[in-house]
Amino acid sequence: MQIVRFDSESAWADAIAQRWCERLRASPSLRMCLPAGHTPVPVYGEMVKAVQAGRVSFRSAEVFTLDEFGQLAPDDPGRCAQQLRRSLIDHIDLPPERFHLLRTEATDLASECRQYDVAIGHGFDLTLLGIGLNGHLGMNEPGTPVETTTHRAELHASTVTASRRYLAHARAPTWGVTVGLKHLLASREVWLLACGASKAAIVRRTLQGEITSDIPSSLLRRHPNGCLFVDGTAGAALSSNE
Ligand code: PGA
Repeated sequence: MQIVRFDSESAWADAIAQRWCERLRASPSLRMCLPAGHTPVPVYGEMVKAVQAGRVSFRSAEVFTLDEFGQLAPDDPGRCAQQLRRSLIDHIDLPPERFHLLRTEATDLASECRQYDVAIGHGFDLTLLGIGLNGHLGMNEPGTPVETTTHRAELHASTVTASRRYLAHARAPTWGVTVGLKHLLASREVWLLACGASKAAIVRRTLQGEITSDIPSSLLRRHPNGCLFVDGTAGAALSSNE
């Protein structure tokens, strides 16, 4: 896995957005898997500027939501799809039918997951991921088998606590549906995004020690086109030659 470090959050976001624009210009029909959460928000902000300035277009692209909370109404602002809409989708030229989301309110969740896998089809060209404090990728918590496809996942206590940051109420969900490790690891390119001091310890654990499904983010070290983008604070626990 390539590691790219930046001094500031703005340099980090600019560089990721620039590389993303290059990919979209080279492959306008790029198929992407994108996360909600706080980490990618500055990157999405740069992409919105690029689209609005006519420097890049999502017109022929496809976006799949990485994961979605259960137990929240479809219009809850904390839903992953709603977060993604606010920070990116509502401000770019992606046709609505090319935005795929997970309906966790579906009565037949197993069928919903199967349909998502069918839509994912031959896979993603580019996957962006944040990193959970326990190394989770999407809602693939520690211990998730690498062959897992789209599935319902029970959230670990630290994930439930962290998700309160997205909510305007106290009813934090305890489960969700996530794209599985199989499709994430098979994505032609995977960019792991880490920004801020709270991620320094897990960034270090991701890169050092064993590659293990107990730290899902460590599995990306084996990815042929994996790249970790860290700002100065998230990379603070790494040695200078890492
Ligand atoms: P965050 O979440 O970007 O809001 O820190 C990342 C994650 O838990 O995967």
